[in-house]
Amino acid sequence: MYSKTVIERFQNPRNAGAMKGANGIGEVGNAACGDIMKMYLKIDDNGVIESAKFKTFGCCAAIASTDMACDLIKGKTIDEALKVTNKDVLDLLGELPPHKIHCSILAEESIHAAVQDYYKKREKELKKAQKAAAEAEAE
Ligand code: FES
Repeated sequence: MYSKTVIERFQNPRNAGAMKGANGIGEVGNAACGDIMKMYLKIDDNGVIESAKFKTFGCCAAIASTDMACDLIKGKTIDEALKVTNKDVLDLLGELPPHKIHCSILAEESIHAAVQDYYKKREKELKKAQKAAAEAEAE
């Protein structure tokens, strides 16, 4: 039913666990199966993904997919990471049964959610810095 790679990734994920100091955290879920994925990213000042980790409360295919997605985006720029699709994940994992394809889609969506969160946090920081600069100028 599952490829050797899926089973191996499920049993020995390389990127499992929460990340301290993550500056992009995305959470996605699938209402039908109830699975939830959380992606943690550490993105440097040049917009390169230094590190990616995940926590998945879900099936074997979901865990293997997110783990592989983390490997796929590490060292990439944000733009490059956003181009990673579930097809890329599947190419490396081997086929998933048709009813498990959505697990790989969830991995792709978790990347987008984490990047979105990164941009939101950056915007907040930028506004804070602008406000502080304006206040300092007014004094
Ligand atoms: Fe839903 Fe795998 S069964 S994510």
